[in-house]
Amino acid sequence: MITRKSTREITMMKEAGTLLASCHKEIAKLMKPGITTTEIDQFVENFLAEHGAIPEQKGYNGYKYATCASVNDEICHGFPRDEKLQAGDIVTIDMVVNLNGGLADSAWTYVVGDADEKTQRLLDVTKTSLYKGIEQAQVGNRIGDIGHAIQTYAESEGYSVVRDFTGHGIGPSIHEKPHIPHYGEAGKGLRLKEGMVVTIEPMINEGAWQSKMDMNNWTARTIDGSRSAQFEHTIVITKNGPLILTDQDDE
Ligand code: MF3
Ligand code: CO
Repeated sequence: MITRKSTREITMMKEAGTLLASCHKEIAKLMKPGITTTEIDQFVENFLAEHGAIPEQKGYNGYKYATCASVNDEICHGFPRDEKLQAGDIVTIDMVVNLNGGLADSAWTYVVGDADEKTQRLLDVTKTSLYKGIEQAQVGNRIGDIGHAIQTYAESEGYSVVRDFTGHGIGPSIHEKPHIPHYGEAGKGLRLKEGMVVTIEPMINEGAWQSKMDMNNWTARTIDGSRSAQFEHTIVITKNGPLILTDQDDE
């Protein structure tokens, strides 16, 4: 079932989203060589607790951490670990915040230290592909319009789009219907309706789109060892266009 959220639910999700955005801005300051993703995960746990929020991912389907931390060729669902990050690594931090029952989900890729040109271009294209998808999240458009915009743009820049993981509806639970693929055909799929809350979260690879699963049965990485980046927002579809609930005021 695809639900349309009430104004009250959306207000609660917006509050969670605002807190999540401020947490990401703090993480950005921590991304220095030598820090570990375990330390970042611990920072998030403390930050959320201080603000009366819960890391919704912890315990979800047996997942053990507050965040997913995916480094370089890891696409998503990387486990926080004690290895020190090095200058030039890219790290996607993904988390779902529960504030008083309102959920919000946002992932962001960071560079440790300074980005070289190749890395900056991967991040820029990935972020722009997210916003191109969001632009299509309009009442009356179809789900395929979102994926089509993302895929067309990312591939025109020489990158590929991960197929094995998609955006999703979100509400009282992390993953609700419908799936939001980041590839596809314009004009195809379900029609978008006012009040739907979904994530758009393109994972963009430097090489091939295919992924493989680690032994831990969670972490997906690129099949060819190329790097993967991801930006994710939670958005609500309104009659005045898409409203980003996890906005960091970064553009
Ligand atoms: N935030 C992830 C997403 O965007 C959800 C991961 S669930 C977890 O879909 F349990 F793996 F954390
Ligand atoms: Co997420």
